[in-house]
Amino acid sequence: MPVISFANAKGGAGKTTAALLLATELAQQGYRITVIDADPQRWITQWKEISGPVRNIEVISEITIASLQCHLREMASRTDYFIIDLAGARDALVTTAIGLSDHVMIPVQGSAMDAKGGAQILDLLALMKEKANLDIAHSVVLTRVTSMVTTKALLAIKGLLASRGVNVLDTPIGERIAFKELFETGGTLHTLDPQKAGNLEKARDNALSFAQEVMRLMPVRIIRSTSRVFPFGRRAA
Ligand SMILES: Nc1ncnc2c1ncn2[C@@H]1O[C@H](COP(=O)(O)OP(=O)(O)OP(=O)(O)O)[C@@H](O)[C@H]1O
Ligand SMILES: [Mg+2]
Repeated sequence: MPVISFANAKGGAGKTTAALLLATELAQQGYRITVIDADPQRWITQWKEISGPVRNIEVISEITIASLQCHLREMASRTDYFIIDLAGARDALVTTAIGLSDHVMIPVQGSAMDAKGGAQILDLLALMKEKANLDIAHSVVLTRVTSMVTTKALLAIKGLLASRGVNVLDTPIGERIAFKELFETGGTLHTLDPQKAGNLEKARDNALSFAQEVMRLMPVRIIRSTSRVFPFGRRAA
């Protein structure tokens, strides 16, 4: 069961939105999802409280460094994908969660500030590889993309990151009212009132393409040969 975390050291990059879209779309596909809400602001926990029971989704909150690994272990037999939503920081909990992840998604908006927050996570990943021999797969996912951002501009960002060896998902997450609305109304894109959501069909297509790309990157039957050892200082298997 892959562990996917969403990290960007800068607040407001679109982590929680992307994490919720992935969780709800994978759940819609029939996968059992455990969302670990490791952000003290508890946005996904609040979403769950408004939503009530959502098929295939469990949310765990009040996460600490000590409890994180226990939750992953406890829920493993009942989970197809773990999704960890992290605070906009580069602290010990973020570092621990990244160390326990199979894939780190780094949402990045077009702005320079945002790219800096993403770069801090890329630096952290490089450090973990160098110091702890932990080679953790990661991708940048472009978020809040509007029609103002041209294909040419997106290709330029992709090219720049690719030249530094960073994978960028083919599917950017668009700027959509429906994605914001989920946090107000609860539920998923499949239960949302079309009146409230602008072009709901496009939003659904976008979220599905994003989830499908992640599924292709991480088919669910990943078999880990050994459990991962953390924290730093020990050699990972
Ligand atoms: N694709 C999107 N379309 C529309 N609004 C979005 C989108 N992504 C994010 N937003 C909005 O931008 C704001 C910040 O997004 P979000 O909470 O997902 O970022 P974050 O990286 O999780 O922030 P934090 O670091 O504070 O946890 C929210 O108001 C959210 O509704
Ligand atoms: Mg957040």
